[in-house]
Amino acid sequence: MSNRLSVKPNDLSAFWMPFTANRQFKQAPRMLVAAKDMHYTADDGRRILDGTAGLWCVNAGHCRPRITEAIQHQAAELDYAPAFQMGHPIVFEFANRLVDMAPEGMDHVFFTNSGSESVDTALKIALAYHRAKGDGSRFRLIGRERGYHGVNFGGISVGGIVSNRKMFGTLLTGVDHLAHTHLPAKNAFTRGEPAHGADLADELERIVTLHDASTIAAVIVEPVAGSTGVLIPPKGYLKRLREICDKHGILLIFDEVITGFGRLGTPFAADYFDVVPDIMTTAKGVTNGVIPMGAVFVKKEIHDAFMAGPEHLIEFFHGYTYSGNPIASAAGIATLETYKEEGLLTRGAELGPYWEDALHSLKDAPHVIDIRNIGLVGAVELEAIPGQPTKRAFSAFLKAFEKGVLIRTTGDIIALSPPLIIEKGQIDEIVDCLRGVLNEIE
Ligand SMILES: Cc1ncc(COP(=O)(O)O)c(C=O)c1O
Repeated sequence: MSNRLSVKPNDLSAFWMPFTANRQFKQAPRMLVAAKDMHYTADDGRRILDGTAGLWCVNAGHCRPRITEAIQHQAAELDYAPAFQMGHPIVFEFANRLVDMAPEGMDHVFFTNSGSESVDTALKIALAYHRAKGDGSRFRLIGRERGYHGVNFGGISVGGIVSNRKMFGTLLTGVDHLAHTHLPAKNAFTRGEPAHGADLADELERIVTLHDASTIAAVIVEPVAGSTGVLIPPKGYLKRLREICDKHGILLIFDEVITGFGRLGTPFAADYFDVVPDIMTTAKGVTNGVIPMGAVFVKKEIHDAFMAGPEHLIEFFHGYTYSGNPIASAAGIATLETYKEEGLLTRGAELGPYWEDALHSLKDAPHVIDIRNIGLVGAVELEAIPGQPTKRAFSAFLKAFEKGVLIRTTGDIIALSPPLIIEKGQIDEIVDCLRGVLNEIE
């Protein structure tokens, strides 16, 4: 076996890259070799302004000393402890701190290693909860078109992205979908929550009528759909969904993998919209993206329903080797401290108006057909090149990277979600760069 350390051009072939155009990438690689605060450094020495907080996760910015030191210290002190039938103090402390900041009533946390695992964990909790209560006929799960809930089988089943679903067989059975809430004809260029579309929550009544409430376990939605292009819920939509779920005894799951930890200018989207779900999935910002981790928050009643039967028996047959890993937990605690010290969980609210004005100044730039924003999230939607969907936005992504700004694209939508430490001047830099890009691309 070779132990070559040199990097030759064809050394790129072994790594099958996730969600990447592998052949295009390997012909013209975009390599990041270092990061600090708001910037990456590329392998050619260029500084790249991070307009996407990595992948919506590095909310406190890069290589923050407190987090780095916590990881180094923890790795040297207790690197790993078995997650099943054993514990270590750091994970209990982290769980306590998380529930302290969570919406009222979300008193327990189950740890995972990613958003996808958080989603599948939440779906399993929902199903097992009903069964534990003697309501095992509630087996259906309701997702939403254009929803993204990660890539595991549960997540793609309730998710609503055709390319993530169509290759993978029958998926979970007993799943139905609400319509998505994106209504560009009525809501284009809305600042914040759109005025039209709250009635789309009533789709849930239609689904209940079709299947009967007694068969439905849970509804899962992203409060703001991120990965399919920043789809902001119409005013009143989430409240309505909550009411319908309550009326029929259906659990409401918010997938807060993107919206959690300050992205909207509040700790969670549940705070922003003043709607408390029954279960909340998180990941990404829980450790500032530095160490893989996810956390599923559940209401007390749900957790307590499992705490029955003989005490020596395992109550929930689920968990991961790395659930609550000590190093991830230490990174998480240091992350929460960094958020708190720097007021990052509400910084999105302070900067929101500036961010909004800056983004909407692109309204008259070439190709732009919609702009959306909320907290420190934004989307600039481009008109697709006829017959070549995604190509224009991908060109924008490549051109922006060339100019020193990392953006993200999905379909023909540019999605922006910078670290929450961003300064106004850097917002201007992102927007000026985009203006230049839009003027240059075809
Ligand atoms: C809302 C939502 N749920 C789940 C996931 C999956 O997270 P992960 O990639 O950590 O598995 C993502 C990732 O972007 C997400 O945005």
